[in-house]
Amino acid sequence: MMALRSVTVPPDGGDDTFRRIARSCLAQGLHPDEVVFDADGTGSLFEPAEPRDAPTILMPRRFVELVSDVVCHSAEDRFALLYRLLWRVQAGERNVLEQAADPDVQRAQQYAKAVARDVYRMHAFTRFRERMIEGRPMFVAWFEPQHNVLRKAAPFFADRFTNMDWIIATPCGTAAWQDKSLHFGPPVARPPKQDDAVLDEVWSTYYRITFNPARLRVNAMLAQMPKRHWPTMPETTSMPQLVRTARTRVKEMEQRAPDRPPRFADVLSERQLGAAGEAPPPWEALKEAAHACRQCPLHAAATQMVFGEGPLSASMVFVGEQPGDQEDLQGRPFVGPAGQVFDRALAQAGIDRGAVYVTNAVKHFKFEPRGKRRIHQKPGTIEVTACRHWLRGELDLIRPKLVVSLGATAALSLAGRPVPVTKERGSIQSWSGRAVLVTVHPSYLLRLPDPDVAAAEYDRFVADLRRAKLWCERAEQ
Ligand code: URA
Repeated sequence: MMALRSVTVPPDGGDDTFRRIARSCLAQGLHPDEVVFDADGTGSLFEPAEPRDAPTILMPRRFVELVSDVVCHSAEDRFALLYRLLWRVQAGERNVLEQAADPDVQRAQQYAKAVARDVYRMHAFTRFRERMIEGRPMFVAWFEPQHNVLRKAAPFFADRFTNMDWIIATPCGTAAWQDKSLHFGPPVARPPKQDDAVLDEVWSTYYRITFNPARLRVNAMLAQMPKRHWPTMPETTSMPQLVRTARTRVKEMEQRAPDRPPRFADVLSERQLGAAGEAPPPWEALKEAAHACRQCPLHAAATQMVFGEGPLSASMVFVGEQPGDQEDLQGRPFVGPAGQVFDRALAQAGIDRGAVYVTNAVKHFKFEPRGKRRIHQKPGTIEVTACRHWLRGELDLIRPKLVVSLGATAALSLAGRPVPVTKERGSIQSWSGRAVLVTVHPSYLLRLPDPDVAAAEYDRFVADLRRAKLWCERAEQ
């Protein structure tokens, strides 16, 4: 009778593990029927030592790709299946994968497909929440894939969210992107229900707005977005109601006159109607591109993107946080209550608002709906990072002598790190080769409850603006 050899397969064994085990088994001439692959990795089993002279295994490229998917599958027979196929390849069936009707090939292809689907779902359904960890903003997410796809899925997030630090925890391990390098670690316990009212609201609003009742296919939706992922996806709380009211909404849509095209469609059609081949000037092109920006969910709930305004020859650029309620409605920066304080302080410092460029770190209004009101929410690193591209573009075009950073969000965007504004206010910093005067945000002055403190702080703000003016004048001499 043939003696069976058992091989321990570590639960997170990837293609390297498979290759090592397979090399060893092949070197010992073990037929697939002579090996039992213990997929839960708990037995005190034969761990095949790799003989020194174990031959290198040559695998066709398609087979290598198949291995890299199939090893991630959670099926217990994944290694046995691959070893059987490999044995056949080594025995001369180099084209085994082309035999589409072969039961082993079919099963391996099914496993590979399931893994690819799981990777896709992880990319689509992972939801990050911002947390402060050891004084640094960190985006954390919990995701439960069906297969062991963390290592396969993680590089996508590193590409997509290069400029933030993040951790994705799963029941079979964690992936962390910190200081621009990717690390994998052991699993952690499932966290209690994740809760971040602000971010959750943004996702729900985004989902509600983009949901098209006329295209609702409940079965397809459930197949695409399996219910087991719902607990970590804030937008799913809106789903039952959207599904319930879909029919009525479709009827209403049919009876309504056609909607006005969305703003970016206007922009596109204007461009198409414009002189053929004529590129818009760089600032207009930048603003136009910012109108179509979908890098973070804020665009979904805001009325419009609010870009900077002022002469492109300005020697001073003022950077605020984000448009407020009034700015969002009017499409211009600093026109609401904070804008009034700002205008008064500028005038007192002898600065002509018409001669400076005024903009924001974040170009869409972030708010929390409360009844009919929209309550301002401070933008987080996710939005500041996503929007930094536009601010940089404005500054690169204008090349001012001095940038005045109003408040912590502007400083975060300009410095690329959190800045203690009250400590550094009045100072002139050099950030990314730009001279930046740090000061408080005008809305901070509106929030001070004690009138004496408010008056003193306002005077300090005007003094900061005077300093900025003087500095610019000197730089121009
Ligand atoms: N606050 C800002 O930071 N920017 C504005 O445009 C309005 C209020």
